[in-house]
Amino acid sequence: MAAVLMLVMLSSLRAAWADTPANCSWGQVAGVWEFHIGPGGYDNRLRCRSFTSVESFKVSLLFPDVVLDEDGNKGFWTMIYNQGFEVVINQRKYFAFSSYTTEDGVVTSFCNSTFAGWSHDVLGQDWACYYGIQWTQGVPDVDPVTTRLLHKDAYEGTFRNNPDFIKGINSVQRSWKAVTYPEYHGMKISNMALRAGGSSSTQSYPLPAPMDQATRKAISHLPKNFDWRNINGQNFVAAVKDQGNVCGSCYAQAAAIALESRLMIMTNNTLMTTMSPQDVVSCSEYSQGCKGGFPYLTAKYAQDFGMVEERCNPYHGHSTPCRPYQGDCRRYYVEEYHYIGGFYGACNDGLMMMDLVKNGPIPVSFQVYDDFRQYHSGIYHHTGLKDGWNPWKVTDHVVTIVGYGIDPSSDEKYWIAQNTWGTDWGELGYFKIRRGTNEVNIESIAVAMTPIVPNP
Ligand SMILES: *[C@@H]1O[C@H](CO)[C@@H](O)[C@H](O)[C@H]1NC(C)=O
Ligand SMILES: *[C@@H]1O[C@H](CO)[C@@H](O)[C@H](O)[C@H]1NC(C)=O
Ligand SMILES: *[C@@H]1O[C@H](CO)[C@@H](O)[C@H](O)[C@H]1NC(C)=O
Repeated sequence: MAAVLMLVMLSSLRAAWADTPANCSWGQVAGVWEFHIGPGGYDNRLRCRSFTSVESFKVSLLFPDVVLDEDGNKGFWTMIYNQGFEVVINQRKYFAFSSYTTEDGVVTSFCNSTFAGWSHDVLGQDWACYYGIQWTQGVPDVDPVTTRLLHKDAYEGTFRNNPDFIKGINSVQRSWKAVTYPEYHGMKISNMALRAGGSSSTQSYPLPAPMDQATRKAISHLPKNFDWRNINGQNFVAAVKDQGNVCGSCYAQAAAIALESRLMIMTNNTLMTTMSPQDVVSCSEYSQGCKGGFPYLTAKYAQDFGMVEERCNPYHGHSTPCRPYQGDCRRYYVEEYHYIGGFYGACNDGLMMMDLVKNGPIPVSFQVYDDFRQYHSGIYHHTGLKDGWNPWKVTDHVVTIVGYGIDPSSDEKYWIAQNTWGTDWGELGYFKIRRGTNEVNIESIAVAMTPIVPNP
């Protein structure tokens, strides 16, 4: 039975690889799983498309992030957005995307099985392929198989600047200013969507976790205003990037900025490198190239494969094939990565402040509404207004938080974030956004990573 199942899964993998339409939730995935493992002993060049399993074992994925095997050994697991899940147990890591098919405009998510995924020990050795099949559900009465329409995104046509929309935004509130960007005019709306994360948002974001007493106490001792761009006159934030208009690579750009900035912090600005988001776009099998991806899985790529410098694979914004690098292309690794709070769904603004101040800039996902595109300055919040001229569906975008503060005149709390739309956008490429209210879900899935400082 297992062999037949693999065939079915692999054919659907090939058919639908270009997108990430799976929509699986914690409640669908929790439960007892059987993992089927292929032959081991490989390095990270192992490709996991087809393999024959040589052993299997069961694990229970329990609340909220606990894994138990049949011998009672304990491990960790987390959902990765609505795309799949990672398990760490008995000194090994397992990651696979949840299984799905797309047929006749209908997406079916099989949250009770995975595609072929990757397994290796926690030191990154001894790779093997695997896939998982859910044995019993952890949450009864939840259907592990759900369908949805593969809706055509409403991104057709070209963009026309809409002065009434700008006027509307600027008249309903005082906290931020909208502006017309002349360069948007005539741009394809589908390209603007790629800039803002790719295709439309398919998941309801998890709510931030309640803040506990210890976190409350710890953040009460933090400075009221904090900005990694100015720590006693020194800047520890990597330069603003421009992802361009043809590639949904924000996830790779933001992860690169966090990695670069954290290396600057760890080395007191003696190591200032620029990482290659193109390497992630072209080479990471944990993401979908220009069609999107996730900072958590980019950090995982940085742990398993390492990121190369920009000069090794300069950014051009197309999903070109991965090619080996010639010459001196050292790789930069992370020793650790996690969702802030520990697992998907455990994040909150207090924990984000603590990790930001202690360790450096953090990539965050959030939902882009059409008013955000027009941001010029001030503290952004979604106005609820719609641009009547230009069709738009909410997208998932990733940016990097570099600081926070409180506005002295309004007392409004804000985050400072670096966007990847060049320095002409917003406040020299940055924006402020409301803090403490989970504005456009920006406090629900932040990622932390710890780079390894390479020997000189
Ligand atoms: C997944 O669940 C569906 C519906 O409950 C079931 O028909 C199917 O056999 C399950 N798949 C596996 C691999 O167990
Ligand atoms: C994805 O699943 C979540 C809950 O599991 C649901 O709220 C959401 O509407 C789904 N998204 C789509 C596009 O069906
Ligand atoms: C970090 O670098 C700054 C500027 O070069 C220097 O003034 C400072 O002493 C350094 N700090 C440490 C801990 O080395």
